[in-house]
Amino acid sequence: MAADASWWRDAVIYEIYIRSFGDGDGDGLGDIAGIRSRLPYLRDLGVDAIWITPWYPSPMADGGYDVADYCDIDPRFGTLADAQELIDEVHAQGMRIIVDLVPNHTSDHHPWFQEALAAGPGSPERARYLFRDGTSSGGPPNNWRSVFGGPAWTRVADGQWYLHLFDAHQPDLDWQHRDVRAEFESILRFWLDRGVDGFRVDVAHGLIKHADLPDIPTDHEDMLEPPDRTDHPHWDRPEVHEIYRSWRAIAESYGPDRVFVAEAWVAKPERLACYVRPDELHTAFNFDFLRCSWHADALRAVVDCTTRALDAVGAPPTWVLSNHDITRHVTRYGRASTRGGGSQHESHGPVDVALGRRRARAALLLMLALPGSAYLYQGEELGLEELEDLPIEVLQDPTWERSGRTARGRDGCRVPLPWSGFRPPFGFSPGDTPPWLPQPQRWVSLTAELQKREPDSMLALYHRALGVRRNHSALGEGGWSWLPSATGVLALHRTPGLVCIVNISGGPTALPRHERVLLSSEPLPDGALPADSAAWLEVADHHVPQRAAATSFPTDGVPGRW
Ligand code: GLC
Repeated sequence: MAADASWWRDAVIYEIYIRSFGDGDGDGLGDIAGIRSRLPYLRDLGVDAIWITPWYPSPMADGGYDVADYCDIDPRFGTLADAQELIDEVHAQGMRIIVDLVPNHTSDHHPWFQEALAAGPGSPERARYLFRDGTSSGGPPNNWRSVFGGPAWTRVADGQWYLHLFDAHQPDLDWQHRDVRAEFESILRFWLDRGVDGFRVDVAHGLIKHADLPDIPTDHEDMLEPPDRTDHPHWDRPEVHEIYRSWRAIAESYGPDRVFVAEAWVAKPERLACYVRPDELHTAFNFDFLRCSWHADALRAVVDCTTRALDAVGAPPTWVLSNHDITRHVTRYGRASTRGGGSQHESHGPVDVALGRRRARAALLLMLALPGSAYLYQGEELGLEELEDLPIEVLQDPTWERSGRTARGRDGCRVPLPWSGFRPPFGFSPGDTPPWLPQPQRWVSLTAELQKREPDSMLALYHRALGVRRNHSALGEGGWSWLPSATGVLALHRTPGLVCIVNISGGPTALPRHERVLLSSEPLPDGALPADSAAWLEVADHHVPQRAAATSFPTDGVPGRW
């Protein structure tokens, strides 16, 4: 592991959705042993760090984002000793490891919640959560809605209601309570003491609720969207920032290389920038990039607005195309409407998967050429598509039931990876145990084993792109500008000596003057860049023309959760 305190400013970080990465013990569910045995794959791929989704003891009402004990490991994933060995081994292999922190809510199996239920209304035990009496007409305390569908309140036997912005098995903590703050500070230290390099902060924009828990005004277009205003009663409230200042101080006490990445769904880059001011969290996921349609002007505007807002606070931008909550980008890019976000786990018409893969290859070269750090989601390096036709009996995402079976939820991006072989479980588990979500037989052509041998595979492209990025001094942090380009074409100049050109114009485009092609997402017939492809070109900087004007925030990059 490089002793570089600012490693996170341009790291490529690979998200491991632990249930679906690799199964070591043969029960059909991913685990720590499955990750350990595949670390060489990740090292060879060329990522700098891994982020592991929650591995704590959990009833799995929301895939582990319902934590019953923050300082232990779920026995289905392994033991605390296994986790320690993994942390040490990741470091020994020259990578870093980030764990997932879930502070907005606990599981309803957490001892605090069980104590709160037992202790009754008005007790100190209830004060750590948001228990309230209902209205005089017998309804819930206010009109808030759960992100997964239905009301955000559930009634307990004695008549009181508790708040849950997500599933009813995920009661929200009251972050005004000093026990809650103290507990999470000690959880941070627990994992920092074990050597983790950082934390991904779940729902970082949701911890503080308005003290009066008022109704959400009906003029808020969508009750669940983070609005571009500071008076939303539960999203993106200014008081969250003092929590992150205290956490930053704790991380700094372990050294400048222990970091946070915020999952904050906010209205625009300026709001995101508030989370990454110098004394707060280090970085934040840039969901505007993932929500953006496959359109040159929209992408250019997202890049401009993101970099401008984050430069103003001295934080590096991050770029992400997929994660465990969002329709895989191969599928998004294969649709007529390529925009991400919104209620996108409901089907949006036919998908041209081959087109989606072609665009995904180009998008990778764009993402890895941008300044700052990038997140990959397991399976995107294999070109996996969203599985939108999983049988309803296997669906596990709480969204399915809570939406009254109208939204299938996020299982389609969480199907276990195909590693090798010719039939499911494709090497995901030793032996033949069926994985917890079924893999389609057609993934036989997408296994990592097969793609390793194919020079034009998605995996080979990721491997090469990460290799060039690691070794080229222009990539990662550093200077950049747009070059003048034809309509529908993006040309990004990185200094010294590299141009990334992305063609979204619908037809071929000429390559700008260059010394040689470093990498391209498709073959380049007659020296032209075909539609929906991208290339990295080595250039002589003095041949590169003037910077093009910056753009304003895209109208189609409007927020949407999932
Ligand atoms: C975050 C996670 C998501 C989870 C939710 C509630 O958005 O990414 O998977 O369901 O928080 O914890």
